[in-house]
Amino acid sequence: MSDGALPHAHRILVGVCGGIAAYKAAGLVSTLVQRGDVVDVVMTESAQRFVAPLTFAALTGRRVHTSLWDDPETIGHISLVRAAQIFAIVPATANVIAKLAGGIADDLLTNAVLAARIPLVVAPAMNMAMYEHPATVENVRRLRERGALIVEPASGYLAEGEYGVGRLADEDAIIAQIDAVLRHGRELRGQRIVVTAGPTREAVDPVRFLSNASTGTMGIEIAREALSRGAEVDLVLGPTQLEPPHGVRVRRVTTAEQMRRAVMEVADGAAVLVATAAVADFRPAVTFAQKVKKNEGAEAIALERTPDILEELGRQKNGTFLVGFAAETERLEENARLKLRAKRLDAIAVNDVSHEERGFGVGPNELTVLYGDDGRIPLGFGGKRELARGLWDAIEQIRRG
Ligand code: C5P
Repeated sequence: MSDGALPHAHRILVGVCGGIAAYKAAGLVSTLVQRGDVVDVVMTESAQRFVAPLTFAALTGRRVHTSLWDDPETIGHISLVRAAQIFAIVPATANVIAKLAGGIADDLLTNAVLAARIPLVVAPAMNMAMYEHPATVENVRRLRERGALIVEPASGYLAEGEYGVGRLADEDAIIAQIDAVLRHGRELRGQRIVVTAGPTREAVDPVRFLSNASTGTMGIEIAREALSRGAEVDLVLGPTQLEPPHGVRVRRVTTAEQMRRAVMEVADGAAVLVATAAVADFRPAVTFAQKVKKNEGAEAIALERTPDILEELGRQKNGTFLVGFAAETERLEENARLKLRAKRLDAIAVNDVSHEERGFGVGPNELTVLYGDDGRIPLGFGGKRELARGLWDAIEQIRRG
């Protein structure tokens, strides 16, 4: 059993795939039902070869969903996910993980996952070689990037008679993940949040531009965390390879001016705006219409200032809680406090980018939040997902006053 009962019964959707571990899903569903949760079960066709739908029907006291074509009068996969708070796939086979990574929807379970805007917990179970195959590794990574919580398989005895990784995680571990998601604060429910992320690009000519090393990772994690706390999220995103989380409204932009326009369109009425974007401070004063040739290359590129988006928002100040980021290489907090005041922000997160292993990119980071005259909340050193959680906790603490 998991640690302690939750205050309310939850509506949990469990997807069962066709692996030997499918029988273990029956134990998990039984535990959830016994503690008061309402559980709906979706089974793939091959799952039904391992365990009969009747088992789950008896355990849940509810009809088990096995086909897109069960109920011609309702759109089954839509109503199932609308009713649920969380979707757990136990066990998830290599095949279903691959289909989900590729967005394929060819049965009830995969359609339901695509239609879901609720948190997704995926507990893989398969043969070790299949789990370690580069295709599966890549597919799991893609799901994780989109915000799915992966409950890592354990090492141990596998059904084929060998020992290795691939065994379905213990029931306790899966339920702990489900509970962590369910317990997670919903304090941003009903609030609209705007996040800016990524670099901007300022064209020199049709093939060259000025930009910086920002990847957008921090802002994407902040948007993801706001979404999981129940917010409606607008993400204004500069050029990046990263995939923004499903469920966030994304506006892609290239230049600082485009970012400014997109932000102004969505900023009005937002409860909080978090500006993580590394907006170019300067752009070429002239953009050449044709590619500049070597032999006619200019000695220098004349630059002009780009609009300071956050400063403009600070001047308007119409109830939105404004959070800036300061990437500094020296006198971090002193410089950040100056920025906090000059831009009339409510809080600023300071980021030491002088260390090679911190700051830009997907690696870890270290943040401290400054607010008011001398308010200071250190978030410490950690992964960007953890820091995004810490940042939202800090924002909530400051907003509560
Ligand atoms: O002044 P500085 O560029 O260091 O300020 C950083 C903060 O201001 C970040 O939150 C960044 O997103 C925002 N900013 C902006 N528009 C600019 C430059 C920075 O919104 N042109």
